[in-house]
Amino acid sequence: MRRRAPEFRRPPRRRLSYWIWWLLGVFVLAGLVLFVVHHHHLEQFEPPIRDKDSAREEVSRERVNFTQELLSSTSFARQLADQMTLAKAYVVIAKEHGNLVLAWELSTQIRSCQKLLSQAAVRGKAIVLEEAHPIVTQLARLIYKAQDSHYDISTTIVTLKNHALALEERARAAIVQSAEFGRLASESMPKSLHCLNIKIAEEWFKNPSVRRLVEERRNSPRLVDNNLYHFCVFSDNVLGTAVVVNSTVSNADHPQQLVFHIVTDSINYHAMTTWFLINDYKGSTIEVRSVEEFSWLNASYSPLVKQNPDFASLLNHLRFYIPQIVPNLEKVVFLDDDVVVQKDLTALFSIELHGNVIGAVETCLEAFHRFYKYLNFSDPLISSKFDPQACGWAFGMNILDLIAWRKADVTAKYHYWQEQNADQMLWKSGTLPPGLLTFYGLVEPLDRRWHVLGLGYNFAIDDRLIESAAAVHYSGNMKPWLKLAITRYKHIWEQYVDFSHPFIKECFIH
Ligand SMILES: *[C@@H]1O[C@H](CO)[C@@H](O)[C@H](O)[C@H]1NC(C)=O
Ligand SMILES: *[C@@H]1O[C@H](CO)[C@@H](O)[C@H](O)[C@H]1NC(C)=O
Ligand SMILES: *[C@@H]1O[C@H](CO)[C@@H](O)[C@H](O)[C@H]1NC(C)=O
Ligand SMILES: *[C@@H]1O[C@H](CO)[C@@H](O)[C@H](O)[C@H]1NC(C)=O
Repeated sequence: MRRRAPEFRRPPRRRLSYWIWWLLGVFVLAGLVLFVVHHHHLEQFEPPIRDKDSAREEVSRERVNFTQELLSSTSFARQLADQMTLAKAYVVIAKEHGNLVLAWELSTQIRSCQKLLSQAAVRGKAIVLEEAHPIVTQLARLIYKAQDSHYDISTTIVTLKNHALALEERARAAIVQSAEFGRLASESMPKSLHCLNIKIAEEWFKNPSVRRLVEERRNSPRLVDNNLYHFCVFSDNVLGTAVVVNSTVSNADHPQQLVFHIVTDSINYHAMTTWFLINDYKGSTIEVRSVEEFSWLNASYSPLVKQNPDFASLLNHLRFYIPQIVPNLEKVVFLDDDVVVQKDLTALFSIELHGNVIGAVETCLEAFHRFYKYLNFSDPLISSKFDPQACGWAFGMNILDLIAWRKADVTAKYHYWQEQNADQMLWKSGTLPPGLLTFYGLVEPLDRRWHVLGLGYNFAIDDRLIESAAAVHYSGNMKPWLKLAITRYKHIWEQYVDFSHPFIKECFIH
């Protein structure tokens, strides 16, 4: 009915549009007036605050570059911005769940936060503890409340993150990538993976034949046979490791010639061992050990153990002890547990390393992946020995010549740097910065198609590059086993998960 009478409606509509234009004009005018008045009001209102501030802290607070302030990992501005980004996500989620009170509370705090940030940007001074504290505390309380009431948030976060990336400039995107999301990611991990671990570990206790098999496998001569192709994976993630192994054997021409040396921690040992005993990976050889078995890795030998006796982060640093972990081997490929292999990797073992210890893809094509990005060049220990423009490279899929390693005593170099960094002045955390120092001058660059990075943070990797890659790496926070994963890349990982497996079926809703 409505559509039928356009001719009749045209004149009144024209009249209506006059009204709309007129109204719009009035609104714009009113808006302008309000804006001016409000601004005026703010300007009148602000000086007392500024006076009070500068009176209090005249000496300590000089003018700062607010962009840098916002990016600095230690500033209050950054902390506020991080929290605000997360809080915004929760406003949307809370509204979706009909929790309007929480959404309103969050919005109120977001506004205070925004106000503080913009005031600080205008005055060009760093935000101090007294200003930040009430807002940070309030936001933290609300975010905690939101997390407590909505478990299934990660999917929504992804949507939000896509928006954030599209709308906000690089600096802001970097903030979105940062701490809060990392924490969120690691927190949303356990549910299904934990369930899987429990199911598999039950099998270990129920099934004595599994336990007998372990001993048998441990004594296999294939584990020390240098005519075979050896791979090291250090992980507490059973499913991640399973995908690494499955994808490697599935794409190998001769999977029976592959040997995997998996090291996990005692918490995951039963599950990891059992999984690889009850599933066959095309006749490849797989051993699983627990890092606690390595009595040589103790506080008197390793500064890392001395500084940091909890074994969780130790797994990450095991890459610096590979010759000790597999003392009889000459060459191994190191794989991270967030990697998917897409080609036969045995060709890696015959790449000429020119006397170098490690083969790795370089990451300085984008200007910022150079040494100065990872290391503190204000420290003479770093600046006297290294070139800040030296090209970075990546862990995740590396070929290692263990003979050259032992000759150059690379682990001792690693110990040296780890000791120098006891106060975390040279680098803050992670394994790449000490890796860059430890393997300096010992790196053979690999063709970048061996190892394509960034599937855990970069939304815009070229499909052809991914397709051509021998291994793709979900480096970044958005791991493929999380709801937070980047949808575009998820299937690459999922195709190596056996969703018909009863344990996986019970723990994952696919
Ligand atoms: C502030 O720092 C940013 C990034 O470090 C820089 O691009 C910008 O030019 C600086 N602005 C001023 C006013 O110094
Ligand atoms: C500590 O490690 C060193 C070498 O790595 C070894 O010689 C020593 O026996 C170990 N100590 C203990 C108590 O296991
Ligand atoms: C970098 O090194 C210098 C000199 O050792 C030190 O004063 C500074 O605090 C370090 N920076 C960081 C961020 O640790
Ligand atoms: C390994 O991956 C293949 C797909 O390439 C899949 O069909 C199979 O179920 C997987 N096996 C296991 C044990 O996960």
